[in-house]
Amino acid sequence: DKHVEKNVENLQSCTQIVDAAALLRSGEVVAFPTETVYGLGANALSDESVEKIFLAKGRPSDNPLIVHIGERNQLPTVARHIPEKGNRLMEAFWPGPLTIILPKTDQVASLVTAGLDSVGVRMPDHKIALALLKEADVPIAAPSANRSGRPSPTTAAHVLADLDGRIAGVLDGGPTGVGVESTVIDVTVDPPIILRPGGVTREELEAVIGHVELDPSFEVGAVETPRAPGMKYTHYAPEGEMWLVTGEADKVRRQQADMLREAKRNGLRTGVLATEESADFWGGFAEADVVLSVGSTARLDEVAQQLYAALRQFDEEKVQYIVSETFSREGLGMAVMNRLEKAAGGRVLSV
Ligand code: TXA
Ligand code: MG
Repeated sequence: DKHVEKNVENLQSCTQIVDAAALLRSGEVVAFPTETVYGLGANALSDESVEKIFLAKGRPSDNPLIVHIGERNQLPTVARHIPEKGNRLMEAFWPGPLTIILPKTDQVASLVTAGLDSVGVRMPDHKIALALLKEADVPIAAPSANRSGRPSPTTAAHVLADLDGRIAGVLDGGPTGVGVESTVIDVTVDPPIILRPGGVTREELEAVIGHVELDPSFEVGAVETPRAPGMKYTHYAPEGEMWLVTGEADKVRRQQADMLREAKRNGLRTGVLATEESADFWGGFAEADVVLSVGSTARLDEVAQQLYAALRQFDEEKVQYIVSETFSREGLGMAVMNRLEKAAGGRVLSV
C-alpha cells in the first residue's frame, strides 16, 4: 500500500513542527503532545482530512472531535457565538485543559461534530501544541491519539504502539503533564453542564462562573446514558478484566485479596493498580503477579499523570485480571474515578 509506505517514511523524518504543520495543511494526520494527552490532529475544516482520523483510530464517526486553536482570533472560524460564561471560562482557563462546547459555524467539517450543531473547542497549554497550531494556521480537530478503546497516550511511544504506520507522524514532547483529558463543558445551556470531568475541576469552574451542573452519568452509582456522545463507549480500557472495590478499607482489602486468589486459582495472570500507600502490602501478596503504583492517594495530580501508562503497562505484562484501588472524587479525583470506572467497564463491587 503506497499510502502507508509514504507515511512510514514521514514518521522517521517528521521531527519538526514546521514539517508537521505542512503535513496538516496538506490534509494528513499528525500526532502531537498537549498538556493532557497526545492528540491526533487533522484540518478541522476538511471532511476528507478528518476522515483519516477516524480511519487511523478505528473510531465510530458518531463521536464528535475536539477542535484545537492556537490563538483566540481563530475562534470566529469555528464558533458562531460565544455565550458570556464561555468568555469568562476562556479568560480564566485558556490555554489549558478545558474544552468549551459552542454553537458551530458552517466552516467546521461535518465529520468533526458528527452532525451536531455545536463544536467543542480548546486551546491547549503546551509549547509544542501551540507552536504547531499557529504554524498550521487552521483549526485542528484532534481526539486522543490512541486506537479506539485503548487507554489515551501520554507519551509518543504510546502513540506509536497504537498508530505506527497509520499516521503521517508524531511530534515527541515527552510525557504529558496532566495525564487525563480536558474537562468538557457545555455553555450553550445555562447553567452550563460538565459533559466530561477532566483537567480543570468542577470546583475551579464554579469559582469563575458559579454553579455548574454535572452530566447525571457521573453521579455515584448512575446508570444514565451520558450526553457527550463519546462517553458511552468502552474507553481507556486495559485488555485484562478490571475490578473496582469500594467500601470500608479493611473489607475492601479482604475482598480484593479474595478476588486475586480466585483469579489465580482460575489460572489468570493478576495485577493490582496500587497506590504508594498500598504498594508494599500488594508487593508482598503472593497472588498478585504485577503491582503498579500510580502514586499517593494524597496527590491526585500524580495519580492522573500516571494512570494511563499503568493501564498500558498491565497490557504489556499480559495481565488478565486487575483489581484497582479507588480514590476520592474531589478535585481531579472526579476525572480519575471516571476513567477508572470506564476502564473497569462497570465492574464495580461495593462491600
Ligand atoms: O484533552 C483532550 O481533550 C484531548 C487532547 C488531545 O486535546 N482530546 C480528546 O478528544 O480527549 P476526544 O475526541 O478523545 O474526546 C472528545 C470528547 C468526547 O467525549 C466527545 O463526545 C465530546 O468531547 N464532544 C466533542 N464535541 C462535542 C459536542 N459538540 N457536544 C458534546 N460533546 C462533544
Ligand atoms: Mg479519547
